[in-house]
Amino acid sequence: MQNHHLTRESERSMTSQSRLVPRPGIDQIRAYIPGQTVETGGRSIKLSANESALGPSPMAIEAYKNAAERMFRYPDVDAFVIRAAIAKTYKLNPARILMGIGSDELLSALVRAYAGTGDEVLYPTATFPMYRIYTLATGASVVQAPDKNYGADVDALLSKVTAKTKVVLIANPNNPTGTYTTRQELERLRAGLRDDILLIIDAAYAEYVERDDYEAGAALVDATMNTVMTRTFSKIHGMAGLRLGWCYACEDIIGVVGRIRSPFNVSTPAQEAGIAALEDTDFQKRVIEHTRRWRDILTQRVKGYGLSVTGSEGNFVNVGFPDGRHKPADLDAFLKSKGISIRPMAMFGLPNHLRITVGSDNEMQALMDALETFFTS
Ligand SMILES: Cc1ncc(COP(=O)(O)O)c(C=O)c1O
Repeated sequence: MQNHHLTRESERSMTSQSRLVPRPGIDQIRAYIPGQTVETGGRSIKLSANESALGPSPMAIEAYKNAAERMFRYPDVDAFVIRAAIAKTYKLNPARILMGIGSDELLSALVRAYAGTGDEVLYPTATFPMYRIYTLATGASVVQAPDKNYGADVDALLSKVTAKTKVVLIANPNNPTGTYTTRQELERLRAGLRDDILLIIDAAYAEYVERDDYEAGAALVDATMNTVMTRTFSKIHGMAGLRLGWCYACEDIIGVVGRIRSPFNVSTPAQEAGIAALEDTDFQKRVIEHTRRWRDILTQRVKGYGLSVTGSEGNFVNVGFPDGRHKPADLDAFLKSKGISIRPMAMFGLPNHLRITVGSDNEMQALMDALETFFTS
């Protein structure tokens, strides 16, 4: 609630006091509203922002603390050690990796680098709302293709390509629907796009996927000169507050984005905590196991109440209300009254859905109890 209020205040003061005129497109942007936190009766359970259920790895916390005394030094401008660690972990070429302030910074810089006034940026309908903001901020136009079964429809995307299309964005798995696009379908999408169109594969939730026909994007990057994969430490590594992400692309693209990013974008504590997080593979396994277990339990539970679920590949469950017996706004309000915050999906293009992030055991138990009360009393 507080965030929303502050955003509105700052928008008002901008329009009432300033005579400056921002670039065309910026007036169409409504500030991003992040997942909210409510507190009721001393309880505050945040399941609204797809943050990690188990927090960061203890090894990452230790590395973060150890970096404190070096905060007077500028960070390594090339982020050499963490790029090498990522390259080793995922068997990639470190020269093709660029670090960012979360994947957000890289997504924004990529769109800015390759699209501008008069161009079009294309992506599916029910997806990450930041794509709209990145696009409009560059002066380009948003073009959205209809989805199929709440996921990206490659044929619909290809049918929306025009001479003005410069960038195609696809979240895989998709936030908020939890659907995924197979490796074969992504290859078909790439093959159907002109060579001068950048394909951005946003794989923020890649680690949670367990499908034989899924590939996060590195293979397509290696096979082409016009594809980028973005990744984040905000989800599986539980480091959303530290802001650390990376992208993988051919050296031309890395050079272009490298020239427009801020030189010291990624702080020393973020780089060092990230390296430690990558090393803690036991912790990552635990997070994945925990997340999948509760995702499945929650899915079964809400289906038992007659609700629907759109997909299952992230650290969240996107719940639909198919029969009109219950309303998403009523469940949202009820959960708020119990101190539990989830995410209404209107801003993501799905007004009849609520997205629930997997939390800790205690948080999920509290959610289960609240759901039972709501649906059975
Ligand atoms: C699909 C998708 N892409 C990108 C991001 C941004 O992640 P980061 O924290 O790395 O900026 C998110 C965050 O929720 C997301 O859901």
